Amino acid sequence: MPMSDTGSGNRKPLRSEAWFARQDKMGFYYRSWLRNRGFPQDQFEGRPVIGICNTWSELTPCNSHFRTLAEHVRWGVLDAGGFPLEFPVMSLGETMLRPTAMLFRNLASMDVEESIRGNPLDGVVLLMGCDKTTPSLLMGAASVDLPSIGVSGGPMLRGIHCGKPIGSGTNTISMSEQLRAGQITLAEFHEAEADMHRSHGHCMTMGTASTMACMVEALGVGLPGNAAIPAVDARRNLLAREAGRRIVQMVKDGVALSQILTREAFENAIRINAGIGGSTNAVIHLIAIARRAGVDLSLDDWDRLGRELPCLADLMPSGRYLMEDFFEAGGLPVVIREFAEHGLLNRGAMTVNGRTLWENNAQAACWKREVIHPFDEPFKRDAGIAVLRGNLAPDGAVIKPSAASPHLMRHTGRAVVFESIEDLHRRISDDSLDIDERSVMVLKYCGPKGYPGMAEVGNMPLPPKLLKRGITDLVRISDARMSGTAYGTVVLHVAPEAAAGGPLALVENGDPITLDVPARRLELEVDVAELARRRAAWRAPEPHAARGYAKLYVDHVLQASDGADLDFLVGRSGARVPRDNH
Ligand code: FES
Repeated sequence: MPMSDTGSGNRKPLRSEAWFARQDKMGFYYRSWLRNRGFPQDQFEGRPVIGICNTWSELTPCNSHFRTLAEHVRWGVLDAGGFPLEFPVMSLGETMLRPTAMLFRNLASMDVEESIRGNPLDGVVLLMGCDKTTPSLLMGAASVDLPSIGVSGGPMLRGIHCGKPIGSGTNTISMSEQLRAGQITLAEFHEAEADMHRSHGHCMTMGTASTMACMVEALGVGLPGNAAIPAVDARRNLLAREAGRRIVQMVKDGVALSQILTREAFENAIRINAGIGGSTNAVIHLIAIARRAGVDLSLDDWDRLGRELPCLADLMPSGRYLMEDFFEAGGLPVVIREFAEHGLLNRGAMTVNGRTLWENNAQAACWKREVIHPFDEPFKRDAGIAVLRGNLAPDGAVIKPSAASPHLMRHTGRAVVFESIEDLHRRISDDSLDIDERSVMVLKYCGPKGYPGMAEVGNMPLPPKLLKRGITDLVRISDARMSGTAYGTVVLHVAPEAAAGGPLALVENGDPITLDVPARRLELEVDVAELARRRAAWRAPEPHAARGYAKLYVDHVLQASDGADLDFLVGRSGARVPRDNH
């Protein structure tokens, strides 16, 4: 039913009426160019106009089913009396895009922001799946602040190889190490490629895509169940249709995204990230999203809220199971209920379905306790993301203890330094490399400015000569990120990064480095005078980018500890279109 026909008589004007209700030359343009597509005027005049923001692309395989998903959203919008208009935005495919999809997260967010603001939309449904598509859409939408709902594309079905489950990324890494160590053949490696990814959907480990889908649900910006329904399960389409219905009501009720993305919601998300053994990438993305929404989230919040929390979900890369198992066990609602029952969540945080987080999840039942453990008998104690500080990372660094080796959590070793990713690739397989199981691998110039784009290279491959001896983990330190599907004792996001003159740039081969995760310390054991001498001799490297977006990025990107957003994008500019009175 059109809003004007509800009988209330005093409804607030819709934003879209600034386009469609004009009785002048511009109104003619706006209406006529929709009527030429066969939409009668009563479809878009007086009804909430809902944008379906689609990241479908053949270059983003994780989102390749989004045309179908968009159709279900469209039906939902029509069910509820809205008018749906689908539009494309830049899509970031993690597997295809070089040099790294992260370089373009902020660019895509600008596309989303301007596409929403510049068009006659009253609300928006955000279709997102592959890693960076979720934060880029949420960042852009948060800066505009219309009523918004996130719909994730859902994980793939579990991979099966030789009768055993295999997970995206996690087993790619382990099998590539087995290949380099001569433990499997190239033919076996190729066979696993088809066995691992056998349906639509995003990576089905608790990698960054699954983590961010969980964050969407924990933040309350997605409907209950959003995180784990497999992409090819019919219930994913039902959820999309329900989102289409719900966004129309959110517009009628005037529920802006900022009423969902509150500080309480982000605090909930940080804690839930521990409960699921979520990706370290969530640290950067949540800080960036929060600051677009006007919430001053920081690494200190991650440290304060994420400390000493249990991980309940036994999921790869930290554990054994995959997202399909997580869904069958009850999914994220179980983790939310367990954490809320132990006083760890803001129960009253409002969600997009008009109910609180607690109201949505209070009755969640767990069907497989081997997949989602009870709070008092967790899968891992003291999980979460640990924030490290010290003279090697004055502005912070992170490590995921649940994916690390217990025997390396307190460790001092001598540095084996790689000056760039190319240097690492050149020397890592050289049997003369001076490295042993006590060494600490250090990789420089892979941060936001240095790479540029902060690639997922922090989980450096181990030297074959150590792999052949059965050594599967070393302490690794860098200013890079790592894939959420990766594992190991890997210290990431060192800030300031080497390219910005951080102390990481000063590390030399043989320097002792101490990692103490329980004490949250990361120290370069070199005396102050020697570090001052090195600093005086240090010269910033030539930037990799001389023109275009990459130059804009390098000139303006913030450090990882501040979300790696562009400095001029932080915050909201709202839905008002400047210079719209022509
Ligand atoms: Fe898209 Fe992993 S490659 S989620």
